[in-house]
Amino acid sequence: MRVGFYQFQPSLNNNNANREKIRFALETMQADLIVLPELCNSGYLFTSRDQLETAAEPIDGKTAGLLVKLSQQKECVIVAGLCEKAVEHYYNSSILVTPSGNLRLYRKLHLFGTETKWFTPGDRMPETYSVTLKGQEVKLGMMICYDWRFPEVARSLSLAGAQVVCHPSNLVMPYAQEAMVTRCLENRVFSVTANRIGRDEREGKWIGFTGCSQVVDPDGKVLLRATADGEEYGTVEIDPEQALSKRVTEFNDLFSDRRTDLY
Ligand code: ACM
Repeated sequence: MRVGFYQFQPSLNNNNANREKIRFALETMQADLIVLPELCNSGYLFTSRDQLETAAEPIDGKTAGLLVKLSQQKECVIVAGLCEKAVEHYYNSSILVTPSGNLRLYRKLHLFGTETKWFTPGDRMPETYSVTLKGQEVKLGMMICYDWRFPEVARSLSLAGAQVVCHPSNLVMPYAQEAMVTRCLENRVFSVTANRIGRDEREGKWIGFTGCSQVVDPDGKVLLRATADGEEYGTVEIDPEQALSKRVTEFNDLFSDRRTDLY
């Protein structure tokens, strides 16, 4: 199964331009699972509620519609971060779309920095989703960016059977990619982190992002890593079955060795 990411710099509040960029990149990309960055429809930095109101889209909006279409055209699963407008709240969300037209939603649990001013945190644990890729059933999970800092998220997904953790991101801290290596080792899962690059600037405020999107295997090996500042996509072949075994030595199994009697 081929998995990959598209790393780019979204334009602030220019959802049309972002959709065009995604359409153009994905048309040439060949993979069974493609992950896109956090807030890839809108960009990251908001300084007013009006900006958020303009940028946020419902989960049956234009960006989701494009992703469903691309998923069907390319027969691949797509996971993407979405600035989401729900009835009364805005969420920093991700969606997973499948060629058969299924759409799944996860709302970021752990908001970072000024996100706390604009977004409502999710109130549901992330779930795992079974998808059929190349005739093989695979369980996928979603977490978003700063969720990396809370090992409970990747652990919960892994205990629920996730083999590949999809991680749309706008990472800013220099050690986050390495932390994801640890998340994979702790759980013997694959991760696909799709990070963005560049800076968002608005009204004297700015924030920069670290690129280096990556695919990591259950042994913590970085199979593929993008540059820190280039718009690029990457794909790599993985065998998701590797994540089904939690055995680490002849005597040790990562999950059954847990001392759940004590913690
Ligand atoms: C982040 O969660 N976007 C740092």
